[in-house]
Amino acid sequence: MTTGADQSVPPDGARRLLVRDLAQVVTPAGTHAPLRGAALRDVDVIEDAFVLVRDGAFEAVGRMGDLPRLEGDVEEVDGHGLSAIPGLVDCHTHPAFAGDRANEFALRAGGATYEELLAAGGGILSTTRATRAAGAAELREIVARHRDAMLTHGTTTFEGKSGYGLDHDTELAQLEAVRAAGGVPTWLGAHAVPPEQPDADTYIDWAIEHVLPEAAEIAVAADVFVERGTFDVEQARRYLIACRAAGLALRIHGDQLSEMGAVPLAVELGARSIDHLEATGPEGVAELAASNVVAVMLPVAALYLARPMPRGRALVDAGAAIALATDFNPGSAFCESLPVVWTLACTQLGLAPEEALGASTVNAAHVLGLDDRGRIAVGLRADLVLIDAPDWRHVAYHFAGDVVRSVVREGRVAHLRA
Ligand code: NIG
Ligand code: FE
Repeated sequence: MTTGADQSVPPDGARRLLVRDLAQVVTPAGTHAPLRGAALRDVDVIEDAFVLVRDGAFEAVGRMGDLPRLEGDVEEVDGHGLSAIPGLVDCHTHPAFAGDRANEFALRAGGATYEELLAAGGGILSTTRATRAAGAAELREIVARHRDAMLTHGTTTFEGKSGYGLDHDTELAQLEAVRAAGGVPTWLGAHAVPPEQPDADTYIDWAIEHVLPEAAEIAVAADVFVERGTFDVEQARRYLIACRAAGLALRIHGDQLSEMGAVPLAVELGARSIDHLEATGPEGVAELAASNVVAVMLPVAALYLARPMPRGRALVDAGAAIALATDFNPGSAFCESLPVVWTLACTQLGLAPEEALGASTVNAAHVLGLDDRGRIAVGLRADLVLIDAPDWRHVAYHFAGDVVRSVVREGRVAHLRA
């Protein structure tokens, strides 16, 4: 069925893009975000299809046989043999870092644990040293580079956290760098306790007083790492309540290594999301299912740290709203690819490709407070990934494959594989 195409010539100056002869166009069907339960599995598939874009928004989508006669300037893209899905939304990344942790990766391969490395002043604190040493201009260049790498894997919208500055200037420079690259900034002021601060409570007080007022001008959300060796539930509550009062949405890194009470805290405070959940048991699953908190799963981090995978199937079956993200960062998930996340979701979390699609498009956009994208539907922002296969499920099926042929971001071809 063709929807929304008027047969007339666009007014002079309108910019139109037609992707034609696509083997499939596939989009989450449900219009209410976040999608839950059976609605998460519900997708529309149109075969032998076209997508028409006008001035950065979808103008029409339908079968080739219903393509209206178009006059005026129309840029055409040949979709023969390709399938199209909405632009992917990565709702959890840490792209504003300098240096790398290849050495720690090797140490972990030899048996060292993530917690031991952090307790010894490595881990997040090692990246903090490198990031403080980089200037604001270098951070801008770094985040733009990572954004471009994500784009080649189909990501058209990304969230980016601070949390590797843990001082006033570097935290704000990270947020600025994410914003300058077109990302959605999250203030992860409570990621770890920096070495110059005596303890977690003193640091939280300092960050609320000295960083939050300016961070809240740039960021849309605040985040905290609730874990042994970082912040406990009481400290997280104090930090998040102050951030909420400053107008920020709330997110939590919770139940990554241990269940510390982060799920009840997220529900109590009405957080937008709780992210990780590798350690969440059946009670946490039931509590999330009965709430509006989105369960963001990051299977690359579980894989990297050799942790149990989060209970994706149980969360969906219980009725929880879920999203999937890369957690791109130099320590626990050095991976920009949401297609890789799909493969892990379908092989390790028990999700169907349809559920991976909804979890990394419309539901991930909901986590970021964006309701103008995530589906291929008339009027929404025209973000589109052209998959190099006539069956869109190759995104999950072809493990680490080069599945992305090209990417349309806000109506323009932003990436075309060489
Ligand atoms: O989501 N868990 C805390 N933060 C990141 C890792 C950050 C790092 O190791 O540099 C995560 O896994
Ligand atoms: Fe993270």
